Amino acid sequence: MQSETAVGSISVDRVTVEREGRRILRDVSIELSAPRIAVVGANGSGKSTFARLLNGLVLPDAGRVMVHDLDSRRDAKALRRRVGFVFTDPQAQILMPTPAEDLALSLRGSPRARVEARVAAALAEHGLSDRADVPASELSGGQRQMLALASVLITEPRLVVADEPTTLLDLRNSRRISDLLLSLASQVVIVTHDLDLAARCDHALLFEKGSLIASGAPQDVVSEYRELCA
Ligand SMILES: Nc1ncnc2c1ncn2[C@@H]1O[C@H](COP(=O)(O)OP(=O)(O)OP(=O)(O)O)[C@@H](O)[C@H]1O
Ligand SMILES: [Mg+2]
Repeated sequence: MQSETAVGSISVDRVTVEREGRRILRDVSIELSAPRIAVVGANGSGKSTFARLLNGLVLPDAGRVMVHDLDSRRDAKALRRRVGFVFTDPQAQILMPTPAEDLALSLRGSPRARVEARVAAALAEHGLSDRADVPASELSGGQRQMLALASVLITEPRLVVADEPTTLLDLRNSRRISDLLLSLASQVVIVTHDLDLAARCDHALLFEKGSLIASGAPQDVVSEYRELCA
């Protein structure tokens, strides 16, 4: 699967983000071309802010972000189509009353027959066929996260950015979502506190107090993070 990954380059060049007069990202520069990238670091270190730079949800106050040749400021609309973002809390992402309707919403504008076929295929692929028409509020947490991820994947984004996608899940569902993310044909950036998941990626980044302090092989970066916390 990994050999099929449509990897693009992510370039973050001297990026600073300020909020309320405080630098929440400080002069971050990194060039990334690995298929599966983990982002680790303590609470409040800037991971989510970094993740949100990648789909233009956060714009840099200084510096520049290029994702697959799209400038996050200049090509904002195209970037949002190219990058799928998965939130920690799937509730933030499920917009329609049922799974089938939610998946169909992601494909709005496509011909109806095609939407129906793709929705049915996505439901089957993610183990949600028998939940297609039940109220989304009746899904379990794991099913909800699976639906939120499916709604992103059905648009076939070239880059998937997931901000702590397994934090609210039990071990089995966490494993399931992790395995799915790691097997995608698209490039993925996964923000996580799950260091086993981070270690399964191809590259890792470590943030500390708004600065990118390590970038490299996941095993090395995870070790550095553990030392930092010791
Ligand atoms: N919109 C905002 N306004 C003000 N401060 C913000 C805003 N967004 C983030 N911050 C601050 O920036 C810092 C980094 O936040 P960020 O959410 O990126 O951290 P994080 O590494 O994702 O943390 P966690 O592991 O807890 O999710 C925090 O101190 C946070 O309070
Ligand atoms: Mg966060």
